[in-house]
Amino acid sequence: EPDADGRFALTAGRGTTEFLPDVATDTWGYNGQTYLGPTIRMQRGRPIEAVITNDTDEETTVHWHGMLVPAHADGGPHDPIQPGETRTVAFTPDQPAATLWYHPHPHEATAQQVRRGLAGMLILDDADGHTPGTVSGDSVPSAAEAPSPSAEVLAALPHGYGVDDLPVVIQDMRITEDGELLGHNFNSEVGLLGRTVVTNGVVGAVHTTDRRVLRLRLLNGSQARSYGLRLDSGAPLTVIGSDGGLLPEPVEVESISLSPAERAEVLVEVPDEGVTLMSSEPDLGNVADYEAVGGEDEFTILRLEHAGGGGADGSGGSVSADDSTGPASIADLGLPAQLAALPAPTDGGQERQMTLRGRQINGRSMDMGRIDLVSSSHQPEVWQVSNLDSSPHNFHIHNVQFRILDISGDPPPPEMAGWKDTIYTPPQRDVRIAVAFPAHEDDHSQLPYMYHCHLMLHEDDGMMGHFTVD
Ligand code: C2O
Ligand code: CU
Ligand code: CU
Repeated sequence: EPDADGRFALTAGRGTTEFLPDVATDTWGYNGQTYLGPTIRMQRGRPIEAVITNDTDEETTVHWHGMLVPAHADGGPHDPIQPGETRTVAFTPDQPAATLWYHPHPHEATAQQVRRGLAGMLILDDADGHTPGTVSGDSVPSAAEAPSPSAEVLAALPHGYGVDDLPVVIQDMRITEDGELLGHNFNSEVGLLGRTVVTNGVVGAVHTTDRRVLRLRLLNGSQARSYGLRLDSGAPLTVIGSDGGLLPEPVEVESISLSPAERAEVLVEVPDEGVTLMSSEPDLGNVADYEAVGGEDEFTILRLEHAGGGGADGSGGSVSADDSTGPASIADLGLPAQLAALPAPTDGGQERQMTLRGRQINGRSMDMGRIDLVSSSHQPEVWQVSNLDSSPHNFHIHNVQFRILDISGDPPPPEMAGWKDTIYTPPQRDVRIAVAFPAHEDDHSQLPYMYHCHLMLHEDDGMMGHFTVD
């Protein structure tokens, strides 16, 4: 949590973590945590200063994934922080409240640094009554011009961090009996697929709550695995947010798919007998070798126990809802019909084709010295992202929240119709997205931003391009 002046320290270092009982695993983390980092909270419109120290023995960076930031603050591979070095990064968030995350982005080493534990959640809150600046002329709104949700919505949604508003960072790992973390499996096209799932860094995570309604902020922080998340009870997940903020209205789904780096916010009800968030069979599209991309594996992600479930006084009765334990059901939250106002995406403007094949985009590997495209701020663009392979990729763009126009001609399902910064690109499909970059007046750094596949092995292998915004 930044102090009153918006300053906070973030120090990457090394440690050991016990994922398996009595077995120490060498891991990395931030601020003394041996694996992962603290959840950072920022407020729209409030300047922050991150004092980043690299206490590891490799160069690193901190990238604020999903945040609209000037290039000098973006934490890309062109601007590494050397071992022992401290760097201060400053910017002012300006976009609607959202569940974002931070992770290193060093050249060709993102996968291994994230795999060891360098990642954390970044929650962006809306300052009360924040009104975005208006854009003049024929320019189109980027997420920087999107209004904040109303105070009524923010108050009605669960927002007690760690109480009824929980971060859920989902990662899979390959870990030996001796506790060694392994890199990617060579038979897998997509990169590392592990059989051990850690949630918030813990194997077999259980959360006990006295609440009936929880807001889960789901982040797929995995290297390559996509998850199809659902409740074991068959009860629906009520999706309220995507990568870049709240949806126009809640959407009930049986399961939600998250590819690496994607986020979703969901509401769940916790009955007396508890409920378990599971992953099974994500919808990966038409994939030839389903198993090689981890499609068929079933995992327990998070067990939610209700504190009143066992009836400690022997009555076995449920804990009645009162002021101290919050609303008894999602319906009792009294959510307004509209969560967020989203402008209709613009289907027009500069067209760009992004072809994903092998480990290349448009037939080229990443070149640190090449700028692949130059965009103009506040101009509408339509990017067609085409996966020509028979295996999955996904696609992420820095410094923007975009909207999906269609997936091979079909409109996106409602839970994917909000702000996104990362999309799953099914095999042999085209995803068209509406993109508009914000302006950062103070940025004279000339550093580029990146777009890339967020399967981390692909990204490190050069499935990445550079752009600047003028
Ligand atoms: Cu999660 Cu280039 O980033
Ligand atoms: Cu990013
Ligand atoms: Cu890829």
